[in-house]
Amino acid sequence: MKIGIGNDHTAVEMKNEIKKYLEDKGYEIVNYGTDSTASFDYPVAGYKVAKAIVNGEVDCGICICGTGIGISLAANKVKGIRAAVVSEPYSARLTKMHNNANIIAFGARVVGIEVAKNIVDEWLNAEYEGGRHQRRVDMITEIEETQSLKGVE
Ligand code: RB5
Repeated sequence: MKIGIGNDHTAVEMKNEIKKYLEDKGYEIVNYGTDSTASFDYPVAGYKVAKAIVNGEVDCGICICGTGIGISLAANKVKGIRAAVVSEPYSARLTKMHNNANIIAFGARVVGIEVAKNIVDEWLNAEYEGGRHQRRVDMITEIEETQSLKGVE
């Protein structure tokens, strides 16, 4: 599996540790983030990871900034992206199983490296359940594509 990873200046060390951790497990990681601690605009990295997913260059993505919030907001502006910010492994697993999140995001200033590793493990190892969840994921897509939701004023 090919995973895109993106980060800003707050998350260079965490990005490198997560990248190595996943490469050691056999994943192919493509780096779309900065490798410098000089100030870097997180929307650039979020956008690059998101575009790489919708263009089929990678299968899914990991986005890390100070909180995980800004970079996920940017990624979520790209059609087809469901980026979920989490701070613990349970939500990481559930956002794959229920929301089919194709990007997991977290904050380098929020979680430590061991929790970050647990988050990516749970998310990568979980499977989307489909079924009743598909209708709701489809509703998210409908909002994205039409800026409206059938039956809702
Ligand atoms: C950078 O200082 C910080 O704003 C950024 O990493 C992120 O937390 C934004 O959401």
